[in-house]
Amino acid sequence: MLISFEGIDGAGKSTQIQKLVTSMTSEGVDVVTLREPGGTPAAEKIRLILLENSHKISPIGELLLFSASRAELVQEVIVPALASGKTVILDRFYDSTTAYQGYGRGINLDLLQSIISISTCAVTPDITFYLDIEPEEALKRKFAKTSIPLEFEGEGLDRMERSGIEFYRKVQQGYREIMRQNSERFVSINALQPTGVIHFQIMESLKARFPV
Ligand code: TMP
Repeated sequence: MLISFEGIDGAGKSTQIQKLVTSMTSEGVDVVTLREPGGTPAAEKIRLILLENSHKISPIGELLLFSASRAELVQEVIVPALASGKTVILDRFYDSTTAYQGYGRGINLDLLQSIISISTCAVTPDITFYLDIEPEEALKRKFAKTSIPLEFEGEGLDRMERSGIEFYRKVQQGYREIMRQNSERFVSINALQPTGVIHFQIMESLKARFPV
C-alpha cells in the first residue's frame, strides 16, 4: 500500500507520519517512510540544491529537479518496496508538484502532467492525507519553531519557504482543486486540531478504506 501526506509547509505532516509509523509498526505492518525531495543518496543531493537559499532557480529548472529526485526515488526505492509487500508512507509526492510548481509557480498543468507521468512511472498513492491549514497559520508555526519574529520575513527559511504568502495562498488553492478532482483518493483533515485527534482520524480513515 502507498500512503502519501500533503499540505503546505508547517501543516504538521512530519508529526503525523511519525505517529502513523509507530501505530502501524506496533500492529506488525512492515513500513518504509520516505520524503520528497530526497530518499536516495542522489535525490538527497538534489534536495540540497532545491532548498538551499544561496541561489535562484527558474520555475522550469525547479520542476525538473523535483522530478529528477522523484524518478530516482520511484525506481530505486518505492517500486521495489511495494513489490516486496511493504507499506510505503510518503512525505509528499507528485501532488506537491501540481500544487507548488503548477498552481504556485504557474507552470502549464498539461506540461506538468506529462513530466509527472515520466517521473512516477504511473505509481499512484492508494490514499492521500491532506493536512489543511491557512498559510498565515502555517507560517506562524514555522516562525515559532525558529523563534524569529514575523517582521524578519525570510530569515531562517529555506528557498521554497521564502516564496512569500501570496505563493502559499496559490498553493493552498491548488491543493483544494487537486482534491476536488481526486476526491476518491484524498482525505482532508483540519490541521489545527490537536495532534492526537488528527492521528485518530487518520487511523479511522485507513481502517474504513482498507479493512483487514
Ligand atoms: P519539506 O520536506 O520540508 O516539505 O520541504 C520540501 C519543500 O519542497 C516544500 O516547500 C514543498 C516543496 N516541494 C515542491 O515545491 N514540489 C515538489 O514536487 C515537492 C515534492 C516539494
